[in-house]
Amino acid sequence: MANRHVAIDGPVASGKTVAARALAASLGHLYLDTGAMYRGAAYLALHFGVDLDNERAILALLEHHRIRLVPDESASAGYRVEIDGVDTGTRLFDPEVSSAVSTVAALPGVRNAMVAEQRAIAEEGPVVMAGRDIGTVVLPDARFKFYLTASVEERADRRAKEFAERGLDVSIDEVREQIEERDRLDRNRAVAPLRAAGDAVVIDSTALQAGDVLLRMRAIIDAAS
Ligand code: DC
Repeated sequence: MANRHVAIDGPVASGKTVAARALAASLGHLYLDTGAMYRGAAYLALHFGVDLDNERAILALLEHHRIRLVPDESASAGYRVEIDGVDTGTRLFDPEVSSAVSTVAALPGVRNAMVAEQRAIAEEGPVVMAGRDIGTVVLPDARFKFYLTASVEERADRRAKEFAERGLDVSIDEVREQIEERDRLDRNRAVAPLRAAGDAVVIDSTALQAGDVLLRMRAIIDAAS
């Protein structure tokens, strides 16, 4: 079967997870949010009190604990993350995990383990995969590649609204600082830094609704199909 994978990369709150989920549903592909896998690793490190840069200890945790993304339309993200069979609910999206995740995701051994798993999932069938290095590293041969961007103000606004909806009290300045810090770490790490693949279509979603982003992606995919 010809490769029908779609890679969607972009910085924090650029709209990629919403777009990826909707696109996967419209194409009938599996949706995989790779950020949730790195969040699972960061959550394990925090839970077991392991230093965030202790690669060996974190790899040992990943060997002994199973992080699994289970498609679930009743969950707000469209999937639930189970660790050792237990639903993590919204805990992986708590501010503590968000602050820790970029450090854990910069560890080369952790990335190797995650990338191997992501590629194994893509072997099973067509997938819309969202992340930071999907078009550049994980699926460099993906049939379609998109890179979403948006202004930092717009992204902070979106993330602050999500926190407010969950009843979390985080100021917009705090949210913006956290986003800028994660962008800096994700863009400057040595292994698989965040960047657009040379052959990715860049979509600036600052002034777009989620539905418009989906329409643009579908137009490109349909024109090539
Ligand atoms: O998409 P997200 O914000 O849930 O991702 C959480 C973190 O995981 C992000 O700060 C960087 C990292 N990440 C990564 O390094 N590579 C990916 N493919 C996906 C996420």
